[in-house]
This record gives sequence, structure tokens and C-alpha cells, in this order.
Amino acid sequence: MHLLVFVLACSCLALSQGASHDWGYPDLDNNQNEPFPKWGGLCDEGKKQSPINLHTKGALKGLFDPLKFENYDEKQSRLHMVNNGHSIQLSGFKHDLTLRGGGLMSEFVVEQIHMHWWSEHTINDIRYPLEVHIVHRNKIYPNMSMAADFKDGITVLAVLYHVSNTPNQAIASIINSLDDIKSYDQMNKPVQVKDSLAVDDLIPNVSTYFNYAGSLTTPTCAEAVTWIVLTDTHPVTLDQVNEFKGIEYEKNKQLHNNYRELQSENNRAVVLVSQRAGAAQLCSLGALLTLLLAITVQL
Ligand SMILES: *[C@@H]1O[C@H](CO)[C@@H](O)[C@H](O)[C@H]1NC(C)=O
Ligand SMILES: *[C@@H]1O[C@H](CO)[C@@H](O)[C@H](O)[C@H]1NC(C)=O
Ligand SMILES: [Zn+2]
Repeated sequence: MHLLVFVLACSCLALSQGASHDWGYPDLDNNQNEPFPKWGGLCDEGKKQSPINLHTKGALKGLFDPLKFENYDEKQSRLHMVNNGHSIQLSGFKHDLTLRGGGLMSEFVVEQIHMHWWSEHTINDIRYPLEVHIVHRNKIYPNMSMAADFKDGITVLAVLYHVSNTPNQAIASIINSLDDIKSYDQMNKPVQVKDSLAVDDLIPNVSTYFNYAGSLTTPTCAEAVTWIVLTDTHPVTLDQVNEFKGIEYEKNKQLHNNYRELQSENNRAVVLVSQRAGAAQLCSLGALLTLLLAITVQL
């Protein structure tokens, strides 16, 4: 009887300890040929998985209304940041950050922001040093677990960063608080970000982007994601990316890379979207026509 209790207690402990890293990434700094682990379920069986390589030439040409961003320019002074053992993640936005327009059929609100080093998506077979994911939930669903059950549940705005010699200020303001969450002892314990940051500062020009239907790139790999991968990139230094590589997912084990391997496109439509003439321009065209009409009437 005592032995049974002991065994149960041990296996429970093992389960709870295993929970945070029951899936993970190969350590490519350690061994470049380490195979990518199978994560199970949809991750292995799905036909609309992410990330994929995005080809400028292979993409369909699209023309959408502009994306509309609400509150992304607001300075966030009380963001929370956590090392969840797979990435670092930001949340706790003052007001709802709302995304609409483009090809989106409804309004989406930002749930969290996290990073991948190196990039998950590649563009024309080129991998970038950093990819930021701004994860949005469709407002018609009450929470992320519900949203993940529907193919229009989630929109991720992905921003790729290219190598530069000049440090990126927005990324620097995140790195500034990284020491508070770096060690394994701090894992899953959110801290407040010391510097303030507007989400806008993480986003380059949004007038062209790749648009395709895919999945979360972490388990459960739910096929619920409308991807918006911007073609414009922001700069980051390799020293800055190395700061992220220093976070621990186990005692004395650093998360050197956290990108998923490329998935098959499987005949999905990938659209390279350009923005239709902005609403402002249409307005001024309207105003001009009205003015001309007024003048004509007067004459
Ligand atoms: C999400 O919302 C549904 C419906 O309101 C609810 O049943 C479920 O418990 C919620 N899940 C979480 C994780 O909050
Ligand atoms: C974004 O890029 C487009 C096309 O190159 C350009 O017309 C537009 O002015 C840019 N927008 C901003 C805010 O820089
Ligand atoms: Zn991600």
C-alpha cells in the first residue's frame, strides 16, 4: 500500500515536471542534424500546417482593402512578460488592440506577442534571424481555446527581422527585462516589463504581405490561423538575437532556437497582397469630385 502511494506520488511529480517541456525543439547549436521531434496529433497529421516557405513568384496576386489598426500606437507601460520554456511572451495590454480590414471578415483582438529565433517562415527560401508573432483572437469567440476550434478563430501578424548593425530600440526595450525571466527558476513566472513600448514599434510597413490559411506552430498545431506575414522587415542585431538564445527551458539548458521546421504547402493558396488605395486617398478623391461638381454647378 505504501509502495503504491509512493509510486503514484513519483509518477505525478514526473508528470508535473515533464509538463513544461513535454514538447520542444532540437538544439541546433549543439547538433545541426538533430531531427525535429514529432509533436503528435494534428502537428503530424494536419494538411494545413505552418510555417511554410513563401515564394514571391509562386504566390497569387491579391488586392485588399487596407488593414486597420486600433490602439497599436498606445504606449504600453505595464506589459507582462513570461518565459514559458518555449519562447518569451508579452501580454497585458491597456486597451483592446483591434485589427480589421484586409481580407479579414471580422474584428480580431491581440491576445499575446511572442518571438521565434530564427524565423519560422522563410521568404524565397531565406531564413531571417527573428520572427515576432502578434497573436489575435476573433472577437466572436470568448477565448483562445474556443477560437482554436474554428478556422477563422485566430489571426497571426508575423514580422520578420533582418540582420543589422544598429540595435532595434523596440526589441531593446524587451531585452532590458530579459534578465528577470532568463533562468529556469523564473520559468512561467510573469514579470512586469520595465520599459514602455508601443506595439506599433514592432511592426514595419503593412502595405504588402503574404496571406494564407495555416496553423499554430506549437502544439496543438490547431488549423485555425489566418497568417499575415509582412514582406517588409525590421532590423535587429545578432547580439540582440543572442540575448533571446540565453533563456533557459531546463536547468542550465538554453533555448538556442525555437522555430518549427517547414511544413508542406499542400496546394494551399498563398496570396501576395498589396493594399488597395487607402481610404484617405479615396476620401480626398471624393472631396475633389464634390468640389469640381460644386464649381460646375456655380458656373
Ligand atoms: C472558453 O469559453 C468557453 C465558452 O464560454 C468555456 O466553456 C470555456 O471554459 C472557456 N475556456 C477557458 C480556458 O477559459
Ligand atoms: C508603405 O509602403 C508603400 C508602398 O511602398 C508606400 O506607398 C507607403 O507610403 C508606405 N507607408 C508608410 C507608412 O511608410
Ligand atoms: Zn509563434
